[in-house]
Order: sequence, then structure tokens, then C-alpha cells
Amino acid sequence: MRDLRKRLGILTGGGDCPGLNAVIRAATKTAMSHGYEMIGFLDGYTGVVEGRYIRLDPAAISGLLHRGGTILGTNNRSNPFYFPIQENGETIYRDMSDLAIERLKEMNIEVLLVVGGDGTLAGARDFKAKGARVIGIPKTIDNDLAATDQTFGFDTAVRTATDALDKLHTTAESHHRVMVLELMGRYAGWIALYSGLAGGADVILIPEIPWNIESVLAKIEARRAEGKPFSIVVVAEGVKSPEGELVVQRRVEGSVERVRLGGIGQLVGKLIEEKSGIETRVTVLGHIQRGGSPSSYDRVLATRFGVAAAELAVRGVHGVMVCLRGSDISHVPLEEAVGKPRTIPRDHQLLAAARAIGISFGE
Ligand code: F6P
Repeated sequence: MRDLRKRLGILTGGGDCPGLNAVIRAATKTAMSHGYEMIGFLDGYTGVVEGRYIRLDPAAISGLLHRGGTILGTNNRSNPFYFPIQENGETIYRDMSDLAIERLKEMNIEVLLVVGGDGTLAGARDFKAKGARVIGIPKTIDNDLAATDQTFGFDTAVRTATDALDKLHTTAESHHRVMVLELMGRYAGWIALYSGLAGGADVILIPEIPWNIESVLAKIEARRAEGKPFSIVVVAEGVKSPEGELVVQRRVEGSVERVRLGGIGQLVGKLIEEKSGIETRVTVLGHIQRGGSPSSYDRVLATRFGVAAAELAVRGVHGVMVCLRGSDISHVPLEEAVGKPRTIPRDHQLLAAARAIGISFGE
């Protein structure tokens, strides 16, 4: 028989990031205060398609604020419109969106809160187009969503990368080496730019600015001439090789964004060592950037997003994504929120500030 309790649902999709649990906690507390029950679907859209979920009662959300990851699990191959199914030992892909929407109706889920990056939110937009009631909540360490000034997860990732740079600094200085740090961010250089500034990098290579090795070497040489025989070079994973190619680590079938970047740091490090003769080491920070406890900034932003999304839902507003505009929480139609990556504009003030203090972008 159909369950007629007032309910909202929530899922976390795509790559995880610090602050997801804080969103789940805030949205659930807000929903409960309005007399709603919150259902948490497991492993992104997979939980909706397969009917796997938990009831988010007070005990389930207790002690969540500082916890990294997501208690609901996530999955970056969980696209209801291209859903992996095992048949005769093979993976085939089917459109399971109707089934998912039917399940939401059956369970009396008034609005589904979808916490995700561009791929997961594109799924929410497509659900909306089929008549489902959804609200997006933007997350990603990459900070690359156009409709919000910041995503939660980014601040924590920048802190982690800054901490790594502080550590690389001391060993670079002792050994008179060049230390290259490759950072995540996909096609945007936000993590590299912010942490490079905060961590005192000498060179920051980002996808938004074409670079050349001569310019990088000139900076390293200039430092050597000043009596500083060590340098710190930050490289965003989306930086292209000197031949203009993205460096791809792997492709993930079934993922909305199939390409996984990685390897440009090694390439840059090798070139620097070969051409400068300075011993060079490369560190790839990788998924450490996605892990751990969220910063206080991310806890607050995630909490504000969770509260805003649940409040909109109980007011009957849906089809939107909550966002940060300046210091205010607002919302935009989902169609405006996805498919437009937010990269660093060439006239961004931080680029000018970095240049003013002598940071090279390898231009
Ligand atoms: O979008 C977040 C992110 O961590 C990117 O910075 C990175 O390129 C990608 O996800 C890594 O994905 P995966 O977890 O599938 O390796």
C-alpha cells in the first residue's frame, strides 16, 4: 500500500568531497522540523533505481558534521539514463529513469535533493524534464560550477593542498630541488591557483593559461641567481602538454565524464630536470584532496545549502539548484546551473595578485 507520510529524499552522486555529511545532516534536521521524514538513497541514483535507501532519523544523522565522505555512499557511474546492468556476464546500459521516477512517486517523496557536481546535476535536470521534482545542491572540490560562486569541498581541498605545499617547501629547501605538485580540478585551475598562492608556489600552471617550458625555466633560474636554488611548481591536472594534449590517466565507461586526467606533473617535472639540470621530484596529491574532515568554511556552506534546499522543498519550490551569490544563498533553475563549467577568467583579480608577487604562470 502507498505510504502517505510526508517525505523528502536525498542522494549524493559523483565523486565525494568533504561536507556531504554536513549537507545530509542539515537538510534532514530542517525537513524534520517541518514534519517531514527524510529518506537517504544509497550510492547515488543507483539507490533510487534499485530501491536501496535508509531512513535518516535523528540517530542516523548524529555526529555527522565533521565527518568526511558520505554516509549514503556515492557512485560516479550512476546515471539513471544510462544505467549499468549485468546480463549474461556482460555490462549493458539501459535507461532506467522511468523506474526511478515511479519509485519516488510510490514512496511519496515530494522532492528529491540531489547533491552532486555537473554530471549528477545534469541527471537532476533531465529528471526535471520528465516531470520529477528535484532540487540540486552543488558540491565538488573542483569549484567549477558556473551558477554558484563556490561549491563546498573546495575550501577543504585547498587547505589540504596548501598543507602539502608547506611540507614540500621544507624538503625542497634542504635538497636544493625543484618540487612539482600535481593537483586535481579537472579543466579548471581553482585548487591550483588558491593553494599555490596560499602555499607560496613559484610557478603555477593552470589549464586556463597556455604555458611554455622556457618561461618556467626562466623563473627557476631567476630564483637560483637570487641564491634560492629550490623552487615549488604547482601543476593542475587539466594543464595540457607542450604538444597541446590533455594527459589522460584512464577512461571510466559509464561515468558521465569518462576522462580521468593525470600525469602532467610527471611530464613537467621531467622537462624541468632535463633542461635545468636541477634535481626534480614530483608528487601527485590525488584523492587525499577529497578526503578528511571538512573545514569550518565548508561545514557552514554545506549546512546553509542543506537548510536552503530543504526549506525550498517544503515550500513547494523545485527544479532549481541552491547556490552561493556573494555571501547570500540563492537558487537558479537547474537548466542554468549545469553544462557550463566555471573556469578562471583571464582577468581574475587573483591572477593579477599572483603576478604582482612574482608568481609565474609559465606564460
Ligand atoms: O571532480 C572531482 C575529482 O576529484 C576531479 O578533481 C578529478 O579529476 C576526478 O574527480 C577524479 O575522479 P575519480 O574519483 O573517478 O578518480
